Amino acid sequence: MNKWDEKLLEFWYTRVGSPFDITKDLGVLRLELLKHRFQRILNKLKVKLTQESKVLSLFAGTGIDAFALAESYGCRVVCVEKLEKLAKKGEKYARRNKLNVEFIVGDARRLLDLIDEKDFNLALLWGNSVPHIDIYELDSTASQVLDLLADSAPFLIEYFESTYSREYRPVVAEFDKYPTVSIHLDFNPMKGFAERLLLVFKESGLCEYIKYPYYTWSPWIIEYVFRKNGYRDVVTFIDEGAYVTAAFR
Ligand SMILES: C[S@@+](CC[C@H](N)C(=O)[O-])C[C@H]1O[C@@H](n2cnc3c(N)ncnc32)[C@H](O)[C@@H]1O
Repeated sequence: MNKWDEKLLEFWYTRVGSPFDITKDLGVLRLELLKHRFQRILNKLKVKLTQESKVLSLFAGTGIDAFALAESYGCRVVCVEKLEKLAKKGEKYARRNKLNVEFIVGDARRLLDLIDEKDFNLALLWGNSVPHIDIYELDSTASQVLDLLADSAPFLIEYFESTYSREYRPVVAEFDKYPTVSIHLDFNPMKGFAERLLLVFKESGLCEYIKYPYYTWSPWIIEYVFRKNGYRDVVTFIDEGAYVTAAFR
C-alpha cells in the first residue's frame, strides 16, 4: 500500500484539492465559512486571540484555516505544509492580502526539527487531515506540539468519524472539476487504515487512478492520544458535521 509520501499527496491535492486551495472558488468559500466557525468555536472554548497571538497550523495546505484566523483576529500564523506548491500559493495570498502568515515547507511529523520558537497560543490540525497519519504519528505530533504551546493554550483537531461511519464508503464522489470517485477496497485492522482507490475520469475517456491508505479515526482515539500526552480539559464536540477535539496544555 502506498504511503502518504510527496508523490501521493501531490496526486491527491492536484486532483481533489479544491476545498483546500485558496486560489479556487471552493477554497475562498471555505475560508469565509471558517471565519464564522472559528469565532463560534473559540468563543465556546473561551479562547481569546489578539494581534499579539501566534498560532501554529499543521498540515496547513494553502493556509485556509490560517487565513481565517489571521483575517479575523490579526494574529500571526506559522504554517507547516509538506507540499511546496501549496505553501507557495499560500505565501502569495498572504503577501497580496498583507497577512502575517508564513509557511514552513516540511514534514509536520518532525515538528521540532522545523520550528525553533515556542509559546504558541493555539495549534491547529484542521480540515480532516488525520487520515494521512497513523496513531503513532499522531501520538508523536501531539507530544511535539505540547512542547511548543504556551501554558493553557489549546490544540484543536477537526476530523470526521471514520472507524464506524458509513459516510466514507464504499464509493464516494470526491470534489473536483473532473468526475472523481474513491472506492473502498479493504480494511487493514493491524494498521488502522482503509485501502481505497481514487479514480479520476478525464474528458478524453481515459482514467487516472491511485491507491491510498485512509487512516480511520474516532473521538475516543483522539481524546486518548491527547490525555496520554498530558493534555488537560480534553473535550469533543460536533461543529457543522465535523468533530472538533480540543485539548489544553
Ligand atoms: C486535508 S488538507 C488540509 C489543509 C488545511 N489544514 C485546510 O484545512 O485547508 C491536508 C494537508 O496536509 C498536508 N500534509 C500531509 N501530510 C503532511 C505532513 N506529514 N506534513 C505536513 N503536511 C502534510 C497535505 O499536503 C495537505 O495539504
